[in-house]
Amino acid sequence: MKVTLIGFMGSGKSTVGKELSKLLGFPFTDLDDLIVKKVGMSIPEIFKAFGEEKFREIESSLLKEVLLKKSELILSTGGGTPAYKDNVKVINQLSKSVFLKTPFETLWERISKDKNRPLTKLGKEGLLELYTKRLPYYERAHLIVECEGKKPKEIAEEIIYKL
Ligand code: S3P
Repeated sequence: MKVTLIGFMGSGKSTVGKELSKLLGFPFTDLDDLIVKKVGMSIPEIFKAFGEEKFREIESSLLKEVLLKKSELILSTGGGTPAYKDNVKVINQLSKSVFLKTPFETLWERISKDKNRPLTKLGKEGLLELYTKRLPYYERAHLIVECEGKKPKEIAEEIIYKL
């Protein structure tokens, strides 16, 4: 089985992904880590040197590569992954997708001071706009899990129960 976690920055995709991987015994991959390894630069450095569009191209090609190559996988994506071109289709065709749904205020509290996320430069209003624009893509997931007030392990258990 392949499970892809999608959702906005700060929704806990990597943390929940690691829990899922422990519980199910499938290997865990973080798409952002894969990009960093492949390019040999941090995410903010990639954005600065090549721009967001180039980042999206690298992200999309690695997304396809990893989903096609592995037969068992827990994949955590970046917040923008499913909102680019046909990525959400690719994710849904090649894996079971799960949207980790979290209220914007909670996300903002978690990400506002993070220097490793270049898009936080948009500020609260800009990020709310981005969140609203991305919601329809996230909502195309096979499974939507409400995460507010739940611990990562509880969320992982709920995903396993509902998948
Ligand atoms: C992004 C989210 C980040 C990372 C990059 C762009 C986005 O991943 O891919 O900074 O467009 O929302 P996380 O969702 O893991 O923070």
